[in-house]
Amino acid sequence: MTILVTGGAGFIGSNFVLDWLASPEHRDELVVNLDALTYAGNLENLKALQGDARHVFVKGDICDRALVDRLLAEHKPRALIHFAAESHVDRSISGPGAFMKTNVEGTFTLLEAARVYWSAMGEADKAAFRFHHVSTDEVYGSLKADDPPFAETNPYEPNSPYSASKAASDHLVRAWHHTYGLPVLTSNCSNNYGPYHFPEKLIPLMIVNALAGKLLPVYGDGQQIRDWLYVKDHASAIRAVLAGGRVGEVYNVGGWNEMANIDIVKTVCALLDELHPSADGPYARLITYVKDRPGHDRRYAIDARKIERELGWRPAETFATGIRKTVQWYLDNPEWVAHVQSGSYRDWVSQQYGS
Ligand code: NAD
Ligand code: DAU
Repeated sequence: MTILVTGGAGFIGSNFVLDWLASPEHRDELVVNLDALTYAGNLENLKALQGDARHVFVKGDICDRALVDRLLAEHKPRALIHFAAESHVDRSISGPGAFMKTNVEGTFTLLEAARVYWSAMGEADKAAFRFHHVSTDEVYGSLKADDPPFAETNPYEPNSPYSASKAASDHLVRAWHHTYGLPVLTSNCSNNYGPYHFPEKLIPLMIVNALAGKLLPVYGDGQQIRDWLYVKDHASAIRAVLAGGRVGEVYNVGGWNEMANIDIVKTVCALLDELHPSADGPYARLITYVKDRPGHDRRYAIDARKIERELGWRPAETFATGIRKTVQWYLDNPEWVAHVQSGSYRDWVSQQYGS
């Protein structure tokens, strides 16, 4: 049994691959991991799989149709789980082009390759095949303070170049099912946090800046609300959807944990005060309000009742347990942090794989 994962060297993808190969029901399977190793791809996340024959890493672009065709023909996966994307909202504002290329054209390329591959399968394999598209709650736009959380039936109202590109990819996935019958699944998840999170995103940035004695930049008034989910719970949600999700359906995934950004930052500071106190005083002294993000969405919240009702999935971690594990992980892995900050994590590829 083989699965093809795209973007499996990124934050969520690498957590998913590690989780998949550690889970009793999949530990004898093969994972083919296609990742272009952009700045966000880090093979050090997958060091635990070094020399493990169950993990085949392929450095390549999801827009490369010939490569995707070859991987499908060679490895004959029973599912394709699509994580690869440009994922950072701020980068999409300063340079949207890469988001259109990877998130829209890349998803189109995978869908077309998967359609041709799936069409030629025997009946049993065809019925079992799944294309799982990993998407975001940001496609639904921004909520007002008293709006109900996003349900799968909410209209799409993406506001940033990132969320517009993800919305476009969701629509392509939907259309490939509706028109060609490709057996797709889509999950739209809230903000993840946990190990291997690149320190450009709020939580890891606050941890590594605080440890380095640098300022903690909070955008605008810090009252924007996000729902936070521990990354390993996202991995288990994807496993649940892949195993039992109804073909063509969308599942919202969330942590039932809405928090304002400033409260997230204060929680991180308080945990660092407890686990790694600074001689210069409480870490909250470093909090600094800075210019807001253009078009900043005010609130996201997820109604995750459908995945619970249909598939029995609920997050295992609360925010209190997940954020403590996360802060502890960053304290326990200074080498990973140092390599990311110096850029030397990129040398790992040449060290490990030659050119
Ligand atoms: P990430 O930026 O950490 O990782 C993205 C990975 O994709 C990297 O390894 C990168 O090298 C790879 N990649 C980028 N362009 C590629 C291309 N053209 N070809 C092949 N590989 C390419 O992202 P993440 O936070 O792990 O997010 C993974 C997926 O989950 C994305 O689709 C994102 O939209 C979605 N998502 C993220 C969150 C979150 O909170 N981070 C929440 C919901 C959904
Ligand atoms: O909701 C899911 C989305 O969550 C994913 O689809 C995206 O890939 C992921 O990046 C994330 O998007 P956000 O924009 O919500 O995440 P980010 O960590 O960039 O920011 C979280 C909040 O914190 C947001 O309101 C902006 C704010 N922020 C962020 C940074 C980097 C700050 O106040 N200061 C910062 O320095």
